[in-house]
Amino acid sequence: MTPPDYEYLRKLLKDQSGLDLSADKQYLIESRLVPLSRKCGLSGIAELVQKMKSGSASIVAQVVEAMTTNETFFFRDKVPFDHFRDTVMPEILQARSARKGIRIWCAAGSTGQEPYSLAMCLKEMGAALSGWRVEIVATDLSQEVLEKSKSGIYSQFEVQRGLPIQMLVKYFKQNGEFWQLNADIRAMVQHRQLNLLHDFSQLGTFDVIFCRNVLIYFDQETKINIFTRLAGTTEGDGFLVLGAAETVVGLTDAFKPYPERRGLYRPNDSRTTRMPGGGPKFATAAGM
Ligand SMILES: C[S@@+](CC[C@H](N)C(=O)[O-])C[C@H]1O[C@@H](n2cnc3c(N)ncnc32)[C@H](O)[C@@H]1O
Repeated sequence: MTPPDYEYLRKLLKDQSGLDLSADKQYLIESRLVPLSRKCGLSGIAELVQKMKSGSASIVAQVVEAMTTNETFFFRDKVPFDHFRDTVMPEILQARSARKGIRIWCAAGSTGQEPYSLAMCLKEMGAALSGWRVEIVATDLSQEVLEKSKSGIYSQFEVQRGLPIQMLVKYFKQNGEFWQLNADIRAMVQHRQLNLLHDFSQLGTFDVIFCRNVLIYFDQETKINIFTRLAGTTEGDGFLVLGAAETVVGLTDAFKPYPERRGLYRPNDSRTTRMPGGGPKFATAAGM
């Protein structure tokens, strides 16, 4: 790959998806884009770049998608889901006892293991949520991962990563080499394509936002911008959950760490960016 082609791709990826590649990541681009160029019937990265420069929106979208890292698994890192069950949900059950509704957003839900882990956590709570409206909104930049998430179909390898065997037996049906989540769990999650670089205020406000393992790919300025806008979509008594390598500390005071709960944050009372209102913004919400 020529240095000008690398610079072109680096800038395009930063502008389109926030991906912040350092000057020495040629191998990463080559490992993802050489196979893509072959799939598109092109001779290599130089021709791919030519097509992009001549305005092929479809090639640009495929390049951006090919450069996303979609790694995820059920109950990833475990601790955030313990916090969700033991700290977040008890507070929400009390705070929302009149409204009997909860809105959760997985802001980079990838192939669905994260939103469906939350759905299974809520299902496990049984009678405590009886009569509640539960909305889990899973968004991602990549349409391809969203399609897989919607299907709720996972390989043997995928269900063996992080998912307790009792939950596999209880919430999945086996179909040949694959496992599909039961329809009632799938119905708890709504899917939307969404780029975190763009306005997301149309989603409304949420009680809980999981935004894990995506901000690590962005530069500081982009992280700060997204944190500010996330604060605007979090209820004043809501929660933000970040990935193990992510923090708001040193970047923004829009959120503050929840004491003794690593990765869990609450909006700061002093901020002024929150949007008014909230409540369900979509037509469907699963009743429990
Ligand atoms: C490593 S996965 C994390 C999945 C899940 N949150 C977890 O922690 O297991 C990162 C996801 O972020 C998505 N992504 C990357 N850039 C994005 C952007 N600008 N807006 C929305 N999603 C993005 C990718 O498509 C990918 O599915």
